[in-house]
Amino acid sequence: MKPDEAKYYHKIDAVVVGAGLAGLRAALEIAKNGHQVAVVTKVYPTRSHSGGAQGGIAAALANSAEDSLELHMYDTIKGSDYLGDQNVIELFVNEAIKTVYEYEHMGVPFSRTEDGRINQRPFGGHSSPRACFSADITGHVLLHTLYEQCVKYNVHFYSEFQVFSLLIKDNVSRGVVAWDIREGGLHIFHSKTVLLATGGYGRAFKITSNSHANTGDSLALILENGLPLEDMEFVQFHPTGLYKHGILLSEAARGEGAYILNSDGERFMKKYASDKMELAPRDVVSRAEQTEINEGRGINGEGYVYLDMRHLGEKKIMERLPQVWELALNYLKVNGIKEPVPIQPTAHYSMGGIPANINTEVIKDAKGTVVKGLYTAGEASCLSLHGANRLGTNSLQDASTFGRIAGKNISKFLVENGYEALPSNPLDVAKAKISSLIDGIGGERHSKIREELQENMTKYVGVFRNEQDMLKLLKIIKQLQERYKNVTIDDKGSVYNLDLFEAYEVGNLLSFSEIIVEGAIARKESRGAHYRTGFPKRDDENWLKHTLAWKTEDGIKLDHSKKPIIFMDRFPPQERKY
Ligand code: FUM
Repeated sequence: MKPDEAKYYHKIDAVVVGAGLAGLRAALEIAKNGHQVAVVTKVYPTRSHSGGAQGGIAAALANSAEDSLELHMYDTIKGSDYLGDQNVIELFVNEAIKTVYEYEHMGVPFSRTEDGRINQRPFGGHSSPRACFSADITGHVLLHTLYEQCVKYNVHFYSEFQVFSLLIKDNVSRGVVAWDIREGGLHIFHSKTVLLATGGYGRAFKITSNSHANTGDSLALILENGLPLEDMEFVQFHPTGLYKHGILLSEAARGEGAYILNSDGERFMKKYASDKMELAPRDVVSRAEQTEINEGRGINGEGYVYLDMRHLGEKKIMERLPQVWELALNYLKVNGIKEPVPIQPTAHYSMGGIPANINTEVIKDAKGTVVKGLYTAGEASCLSLHGANRLGTNSLQDASTFGRIAGKNISKFLVENGYEALPSNPLDVAKAKISSLIDGIGGERHSKIREELQENMTKYVGVFRNEQDMLKLLKIIKQLQERYKNVTIDDKGSVYNLDLFEAYEVGNLLSFSEIIVEGAIARKESRGAHYRTGFPKRDDENWLKHTLAWKTEDGIKLDHSKKPIIFMDRFPPQERKY
């Protein structure tokens, strides 16, 4: 295959990897600005995991008189346990309202108030009802609307293409190499810019709300290119995962008034967050829930508590929470109108990711040196917007707003820059990865390795963390990485070879999971979603700083010298109480 063979070589202004809200919103912006853009995505766009986000998209529309941009900003900073970069948070809240009205004008069917305005419901950690919603399928309607817009503006879609390598040379991004899952064959996308918008990586855990595809592939690609990841130790556990499955039951249920109960039928949140109760932020509620379970007050002494919606009544449940009701019925045979639903904390969101500056440009060090032409947005990125803990509904807003900002900045870059030459032998890395999997003969099953990784991540680096467990986990991950070298797949073909892709994904999970654990061991404090039993307090003196982590030949290298937390005069760190 040579770059000039048409089927395998595409020269196009911009490539967007991933077709969730961040990727689509960026692609739309780039296309609207008159540039050619290709979205390369391993799942069909409308199956992207943004569609699984349920409860709403945050914006201080001021439906309620007491809400304001300043309050949204304060809530987000406090929610982040003061690790969020406040310049990024300020930009985010300022753009959020525009983002929602833009969606309205695109035709998103938002739920409405009696007088016709976009309705807003309360959500955890927000001081005012701020979640604009469409029943409990908000992500789904946003995703479909954006996809229609992208089709209208002639975005080029390469659906079911898996990216195997980034073409970066001399600190300049020059495109990507991807495999056509349906028909086979490697494709070179030679572009002036690449946006990584591949979403989260909850599939490193056994109990997760994330879809099967959320394996953090672009994070592994970043690491193999000698670039760092940021704040990976901060993984959010959502309090209302469906018991044993982890599937999301939207926080919208609590926003509409549902309770959480222990085995004594007690609304135990009054002991942990007497003011906000069930609408405290997710880190607080998940810890409370896990404490009840650990101390024997789980239902029937088991690892779950109840989400009780019965008092909301059938009409409200079917109008506002139809998906929550349906999921409980389909997966647990529990009718939420008549019975409480078993729930447990579930790995939901990755606050960490690919480090980027406020313009969504990927950075390679604590000084903020940019990788030219490489951008990131959405959950794959770490703009330090959510710090140590994200507030619910700030995620759809983040993906949409920073998707648009990325698209805008990329459009500007495209006007000012030409194509850079491809590296010599651009297919080499991708080919080597594929052949090592196809030719593997060691007999190890990737599904077994994946299972063991997920099981141990959930067990040892979950809601509560301690050093001994994490050291044990690190050892297990290293053993799994060794075993991975002997993975053997049965399907040697090139058409729809899911055996190959799942094996590839497991390698990616193993790559960044080590960094989650190393970062969590190093951070000797409790902040947001990261709770160390041996260090139960936040320690601003030593740890009000981000983590950058590289994979080197000598192991993981951590750097905590990046300290861009600004506007301290307006929002200085305070004790975080709810
Ligand atoms: O609970 C939910 O509906 C999830 C929303 C979010 O993560 O923002």
